[in-house]
Amino acid sequence: MKEFCTAKEAKQWLKSYQKKKPKIGFVPTMGALHVGHLRLISQSKAENDITVCSVFVNPIQFNNPDDLTKYPRNLSLDARLLRNNGCDMLFCPSVEEMYPNGKHENIELEFGLLDKVMEGKFRPGHFKGVLIVVKKLFDIIRPDNAYFGKKDYQQLMVIKHMKESLGLPVNIIACETVREDDGLAMSSRNLRLTIGERQVARRIFEVLCKVREKGTKTPVWELREWAIKKIQEDSRFRVEYFEIADRETLMPVESWGHRNQVVALTAVFLGDVRLIDNVELFS
Ligand code: PAJ
Repeated sequence: MKEFCTAKEAKQWLKSYQKKKPKIGFVPTMGALHVGHLRLISQSKAENDITVCSVFVNPIQFNNPDDLTKYPRNLSLDARLLRNNGCDMLFCPSVEEMYPNGKHENIELEFGLLDKVMEGKFRPGHFKGVLIVVKKLFDIIRPDNAYFGKKDYQQLMVIKHMKESLGLPVNIIACETVREDDGLAMSSRNLRLTIGERQVARRIFEVLCKVREKGTKTPVWELREWAIKKIQEDSRFRVEYFEIADRETLMPVESWGHRNQVVALTAVFLGDVRLIDNVELFS
């Protein structure tokens, strides 16, 4: 596996392949890799000639400085995992390489409600930072296919919207959420849970599954209230939001009229760790 820290080197290496016109698959990450990330790598490997993974903890997408400081980092372990999983290139730039003198391009696009509800509301500036870095990474790697997890459902939709609006020549591929045996969605943040918190963290997915089961038998507002109450029955949990929304626009729904196209999404603090998860309903 090749490892590059500068855009120049990464581009040069990719250019040396250009005559063979390989299909390039790209998996952008912030490192602290787990099986969820590695699943995206295997899907990319199955569908492309070359797989590139980036590891970059993007400071401009963190609205909370404490969250940025505490974000787990272990580049040598990440590199080993990628090598063992057949990744062809690791791009791991420094902050200065990505944002020289702290400067970056801005992306001004109209997203409707898509970037204003849920994560957009509770993490102001977050999606702006995600889009700036993803666009910049796309410009460097120029992938044919880019892989994103449904675990970050709203991020996936915002990136799809950017691709459409800017007419970017890349396919955005959505990958299913990979879960621990007890159902907890895999996340780099899970490492920050205490042993006790980790034991009860499954509650979030359990309630999401119950919501899927209860479905249209209960009015949307009642189901929402029920879910919030159920999660918070254990006082270690605090629900930031729980919404049932249209799968494409993420506009919260009030009734089951669009029952084939909705998703239940939640953000929950367990102790001081913020976890997000979602399930598509009626698929
Ligand atoms: P990160 O949280 O490292 O996630 C990288 C990719 O892995 C994202 O597409 C995310 O949705 C996916 N992923 C994480 N956990 C997953 C799981 N349990 N199952 C399936 N996929 C999972 O998301 C980011 O980084 C950043 O915002 C980024 C897009 C790299 C921009 O900085």
